[in-house]
Amino acid sequence: MAVNVVLIVVFAGLITIALGLDAASVNNVGIYGGHDISIEQAPFMASLRLNGTDHYCGASVIHERFILTAAHCILPDRKYTVQVGTTYANDGGQVYDVEKIMKHEMYNYTTHDYDICLIKLKTNLTFSAKVNKIDLADRSVRLKQNIQVEVTGWGATSADGDISNNLQQVTIPIISTFSCCLKYLKVRHAITSRMFCAGEQGKDSCQGDSGGPLTLNNVQVGVTSFGSGCGKLPGVYTKISAMLPWINDNIKKNL
Ligand SMILES: *[C@@H]1O[C@H](CO)[C@@H](O)[C@H](O)[C@H]1NC(C)=O
Ligand SMILES: *[C@@H]1O[C@H](CO)[C@@H](O)[C@H](O)[C@H]1NC(C)=O
Ligand SMILES: *[C@@H]1O[C@H](CO)[C@@H](O)[C@H](O)[C@H]1NC(C)=O
Repeated sequence: MAVNVVLIVVFAGLITIALGLDAASVNNVGIYGGHDISIEQAPFMASLRLNGTDHYCGASVIHERFILTAAHCILPDRKYTVQVGTTYANDGGQVYDVEKIMKHEMYNYTTHDYDICLIKLKTNLTFSAKVNKIDLADRSVRLKQNIQVEVTGWGATSADGDISNNLQQVTIPIISTFSCCLKYLKVRHAITSRMFCAGEQGKDSCQGDSGGPLTLNNVQVGVTSFGSGCGKLPGVYTKISAMLPWINDNIKKNL
């Protein structure tokens, strides 16, 4: 069993190298089965741009000066910018320069554990109807099975599709960690207490949605982390409530 796990990890690594992608982006989880929305309906939505050009990951505005995304969205030695205030991935909005990138110290790219990253911008955001922060969930927000949550992003709308230019959103149910663990056992991937699962057949997040927010009643409860084939296994999300002390500490230290 242990040998198999190692072999699968090595095999996944080889596929990753063959595709020239970072480990997590292979399993990057675009909105699958969702619908168009406008930025005014999700003004906390940001696009993390790689090399200052292309949409690479989703992100959320959580403070005038800070954006939240997934740690696996950060590749070494690349330049990132953050685009906000637009419905369209490739048009409009404002672009902000990044001052500092803080990946969680415990982030593990093999297990996807602690998949969270705080980004400090060089200047404050200007809030408007199209740019605003979202509140983060603490432990009082219960993620019970079958509660409906929203995932938002510019990710692919099919498993091997391009990113979507118009912002998408899909409503999906929370899946119990027990049944999610059983499903992920088949692909030998652990669901830790920093993770939770959501999705249903045909509705999911997909390539390019990583780093984006999962929300419940306009509170962010998750960060899109990984999946296995869009709409096949439930999507896995970093649990905001488990990361909240780390997020608050790092904002305070870096204000
Ligand atoms: C970004 O820049 C790096 C370093 O200059 C380059 O290797 C990489 O191919 C670029 N990536 C994209 C998506 O343009
Ligand atoms: C990541 O987790 C794996 C599996 O638990 C472990 O073997 C590995 O050492 C960890 N890597 C890092 C960098 O902590
Ligand atoms: C940036 O926003 C913070 C509130 O989070 C405020 O205290 C600070 O004065 C602002 N800085 C500038 C330069 O506007």
